[in-house]
Amino acid sequence: MTAAEKAFAGPIPEIYDRLLVPLIFEPYARHLAERVEKLKPQSLLEVAAGTGAVTRALALRLDEKVRILASDLNQPMIDFARSRQGNNGRITWQQADALSLPFEAQSFDIVVCQFGAMFFPDKAKGYREAHRVLRPNGHYIFSVWDKLENNEFAQFVEDTLADHFPQDPPRFMGRTPHGYWAIDPIRNDLKASGFREVTVDTSEQKCRARSAHEVAIAYCQGTPLRVEIEARSPSGLDEATEVVAEALTRRFGTGSIDSRITAHVIEAVR
Ligand SMILES: C[S@@+](CC[C@H](N)C(=O)[O-])C[C@H]1O[C@@H](n2cnc3c(N)ncnc32)[C@H](O)[C@@H]1O
Repeated sequence: MTAAEKAFAGPIPEIYDRLLVPLIFEPYARHLAERVEKLKPQSLLEVAAGTGAVTRALALRLDEKVRILASDLNQPMIDFARSRQGNNGRITWQQADALSLPFEAQSFDIVVCQFGAMFFPDKAKGYREAHRVLRPNGHYIFSVWDKLENNEFAQFVEDTLADHFPQDPPRFMGRTPHGYWAIDPIRNDLKASGFREVTVDTSEQKCRARSAHEVAIAYCQGTPLRVEIEARSPSGLDEATEVVAEALTRRFGTGSIDSRITAHVIEAVR
């Protein structure tokens, strides 16, 4: 994992939240919140909460008495999430590394993590930490994206940028967000971390954007892909975004466009 891949900072949180969250994160956030609601927790820890897509969905569904602690490695993501959510006494926002959680053992009924595990340099350590802070019978619910070929916009953006930078294609999408989808190693790591029951649901959804241009900005400027593009061409971000927008328009059409996204939702019981 490079430093750039962890860099959810600068203009990224705002663009991520405005364009990428409604496009691909909100459908899964709603689904996750529904699962959590059924388990009736009293206390919940969210790791890699980002700009709060899941936190907001949880706050809408869970009883007012439920304590939600939302955390992320990157303070700028937490700051953005907090400012978007506004005052809400039962949510605490805190910077925290999922690999070294600053919480006591057995403090939470549920740990959730939406599309964060792919970023953990040591996945098994992240699982052991979730296991440590969960109470007995507690649930760890997290999601990872399926492979690129089952996530059309991400694959198309990656392929288009590979043509634009043929000497050194930016491979962030395939390497990180879509680089951790094989179920057996995930299951094995969870079992080795002490979880006793593991279930995996593969969930395909349709995502829709108002325009190809918005999809291009979301991926090229609202993710660490931005850092990879700027590393190859310090003043070429707008040009690369435009190249991607034009290619998306040729492939998916003008006006609102849609495509298929697929993720695995994993639930492990302590
Ligand atoms: C793709 S975003 C997902 C954010 C959010 N869960 C959502 O659904 O929109 C990945 C997040 O993982 C966070 N992250 C990366 N490494 C982390 C770590 N070691 N511990 C906690 N969070 C981490 C990043 O800061 C980023 O906010």
